[in-house]
Amino acid sequence: MNILLIGSGGREHALAWAMRTKSSFMRGLYAAPGNPGIFEVARHTDIEDINDHDQIIQFCQRLMIDLVVVGPEQPLALGLADNLRSAGIFTFGPSRAAARIESSKAFAKDMMRKYNIPTAAYKHFDHTQVHDALAYIDNFSKPPVIKADGLAAGKGVIVPRTHEEAKNAVLEMFGGAFGKAGAAVVIEEFMEGEEASVFAICDGTNFITLAPAQDHKRIGDGDTGKNTGGMGAYAPADALVTPEIMDKVKKRIIQPLLDGMRAEKTPFIGCLFCGLMIHNGEPRVVEFNARFGDPETQAVLSVFEGDFVRLLSSAARGEIDKSAVRSSTNGYCCNVVLAAEGYPDTYNKGMRISGIEEARAMNARIFHSGTARDENKELIANGGRVLGVCGSGDTLEKAINIAYQAIPYIEFEGKVFRKDIGQKGLRYT
Ligand SMILES: Nc1ncnc2c1ncn2[C@@H]1O[C@H](COP(=O)(O)OP(=O)(O)O)[C@@H](O)[C@H]1O
Ligand SMILES: [Mg+2]
Repeated sequence: MNILLIGSGGREHALAWAMRTKSSFMRGLYAAPGNPGIFEVARHTDIEDINDHDQIIQFCQRLMIDLVVVGPEQPLALGLADNLRSAGIFTFGPSRAAARIESSKAFAKDMMRKYNIPTAAYKHFDHTQVHDALAYIDNFSKPPVIKADGLAAGKGVIVPRTHEEAKNAVLEMFGGAFGKAGAAVVIEEFMEGEEASVFAICDGTNFITLAPAQDHKRIGDGDTGKNTGGMGAYAPADALVTPEIMDKVKKRIIQPLLDGMRAEKTPFIGCLFCGLMIHNGEPRVVEFNARFGDPETQAVLSVFEGDFVRLLSSAARGEIDKSAVRSSTNGYCCNVVLAAEGYPDTYNKGMRISGIEEARAMNARIFHSGTARDENKELIANGGRVLGVCGSGDTLEKAINIAYQAIPYIEFEGKVFRKDIGQKGLRYT
């Protein structure tokens, strides 16, 4: 099969690597825009702008692309999958309408209410309803969580400590602090519990889940400091998401959501990311995303057993082949993100990166998130999250050790990382 992969982050590097190494169907793999890690396993294209859908379609026709895999949410929300499908090109990724499960938090909450999917109590408001919104906050004994409706690159959610802070957050959002994303807000009950991520590969009607994972959102050890895109993850998070809980997630969350999307005439084809809060053995939805999560994907695909291309292409064709996924996983994986000092606020770019081969010699798998080549073809940092260092082993403890033993070999100025990725998973053992 010839495949075009859209995206340029650590998630896409992991997708490219898994398609290359965990399938017998892979022929030509192309990536746009790609990154230096992705181009270790995929070829360049002449696509200059991934927002130019005609250019992508022409490329696919010229190179006889059998499948397009869309990594990030933005192109999905802009209708890339719709345009590709209209041109007769199989695409792994939801339509613009189905991607609203991520691109509008109000839509997602309304779907959950309509189809009885467990989630936090909520209401949503637009800017003409400021007074109602502020009054609603007082209904909660604990300060409720405030969310900008639209895509806000992981920065649109405020978990306030006081009701006062909650009200200020609403006023800021309506004041334009998050641009168009904050034109409407969701106000929802604070949920206690522990977070986990479950990916469901969906063909519009049926689905199969991959290994559950746990992300580490805060910048600092012990879950302190600012929220980030994610500082590391491990999989399978099987002590937290037990088989019993996984069963509830499938029956009460994923299947009703898929059925609901179909009933609304917007079937979901792609990866449905379920962000969960688990409390006393009961999973509730924090959010849905319309694509694979980063940094969980690097860990989830590291332990994936099966034929990954067969899985994605069968889902894209609307007839998911569940035998493409083996029920057992290949041990455990711990993915530790190396970030640039200052992240998630302002940070430097352009620092030279060394030691990747040495780290690989320590049995770690390295995924590129924010890297580039300078004019001398030297590898440099080019983003807040720079690299993901993955250790694998037959226990989580071994996986963690391999990742952390490899990290010292990788150097760039201002390298920061959490020292406790995966420790949450060990607490249960
Ligand atoms: N209702 C809630 N109760 C407790 N924590 C929440 C709640 N909603 C969100 N959070 C916290 O805020 C984070 C970001 O919220 P989320 O809905 O995942 O938005 P996004 O990923 O788009 O920023 C979550 O990972 C979780 O830690
Ligand atoms: Mg989230």
